Amino acid sequence: MKAAFIERHGGPEVLQFGEMPDPVAAPGEIVVDIVAASVNGADWKVREGKSNQIAHFPYILGRDFSGVVSAVGEGVSDLRVGDEVFAVCDAGQEGAYAEKIAIKAAIVTRKPASLSHVDAAALALAGLTAICAVEDTLRLQKGETILIQGGAGGVAGFAIQLAKHLGARVITTASAVNHGYLRQIGADEIIDYNSVDFTKVVKDCDAVFDTVGGDVAQRSFAVLKPGGRAAFIASGAQAPKPERSDVVALRPHVGRDRPHLERIVALVAAGAVRPPEVTRYQLSEAVAAHRLSESRHFRGKLVFLVR
Ligand SMILES: NC(=O)c1ccc[n+]([C@@H]2O[C@H](COP(=O)([O-])OP(=O)(O)OC[C@H]3O[C@@H](n4cnc5c(N)ncnc54)[C@H](OP(=O)(O)O)[C@@H]3O)[C@@H](O)[C@H]2O)c1
Repeated sequence: MKAAFIERHGGPEVLQFGEMPDPVAAPGEIVVDIVAASVNGADWKVREGKSNQIAHFPYILGRDFSGVVSAVGEGVSDLRVGDEVFAVCDAGQEGAYAEKIAIKAAIVTRKPASLSHVDAAALALAGLTAICAVEDTLRLQKGETILIQGGAGGVAGFAIQLAKHLGARVITTASAVNHGYLRQIGADEIIDYNSVDFTKVVKDCDAVFDTVGGDVAQRSFAVLKPGGRAAFIASGAQAPKPERSDVVALRPHVGRDRPHLERIVALVAAGAVRPPEVTRYQLSEAVAAHRLSESRHFRGKLVFLVR
C-alpha cells in the first residue's frame, strides 16, 4: 500500500511518500481501506519528536480516518467487508496516512451515507475531543457562558456548535479574517486576539475551553467567575496550574470508543453541528499539509483524500 511516513524525527521534509507493507487484521480487528484521513496538531508534534515515543521507523502518522472495511479478523461479528466506517485510532496507535489500516473493531463506527468520507475524517478526532471536553469534562449547562479559545480551529469549531446546541452563550477568539465564519457557526461574541487582550474584555465566565495553549492557556483563568472551570487540550498531558484557588483546571480524557463517535453522528444528523471547512491534500502532499498545520493559522481541518 501507499503511505506517508517518517524515517526519523525532524522538520516537514522528513515526510516520505511510498510503499509500506499491507496490514493484516488480528483477532478483534478489521482492515479498513482508507478513503480520507485528517491532519491533527499532534501529527507534527509526533513528527518532530515532541510527543509519543516512536519505537520503530519507518512510522506512519495519522490518527483519524474514514473508509471501507476490506477484511475482518477472527471474532468480529458486528462489521462486514464493504461497510463504510470511520474512527479515531486507539491511544498509542497511529497509521491513518495510508491506503489501509488495521484497527480494533470495537472503536470503529459505521459512517452514515449522508456524511462524506472527507467530512467523517474531518469530524472524528476533532469531534471526539470537543465532546469529551465540553460535555464530559466541563459538563457545560444551558444558560452558562463559555470562552472557547482558538475558535477557527477544528476542535473549537465543533465545540462552539456543541456549546450553542447545549444552550450556552459562546465567546471565542480568532483573527479578524475568521470572524464571519465563526458568526455563521453560532458564536455570540468574537474577539480579535491580535488587537484585543481577551482578559480586558471577558469576565465572569462559567467555563473556558482552551485549544491554543501556552500563555493563552495560563491567562484564561482570569476570565472565570469564582467556581468556574477550565479545560485544556493544547498544554500537554496536564492542565496548567491556576494562580487562583477558586477555579478548577481540567485535562479532558479523550478516550476512544464507539458511543462517542455515534454522538458525533447524532449531532450532525440533528443539524446541531455541521462539518468543518476542509482543505484537501493528496497523501503525496503531506509535507505541504504539515507546513500549514504547523503554522496554526488556517480554518477548519486539513484532510488527505487517499483514494
Ligand atoms: N486528544 C487531545 O488532547 C487533542 C485532540 C485534538 C487536538 N488537540 C490539540 O488541540 C489543539 C487545537 O487543535 P486544532 O486541530 O483544533 O487546531 P490547530 O490546528 O492547533 O489551530 C488552528 C487554529 O488556532 C487558531 N489560533 C492560533 N493562535 C491563536 C491564538 N493566540 N488565539 C486564538 N486562536 C489562535 C488559528 O486561528 P487564527 O488563524 O484565527 O489565528 C487556527 O484556526 C492542538 O494543540 C492539538 O494538538 C488535542
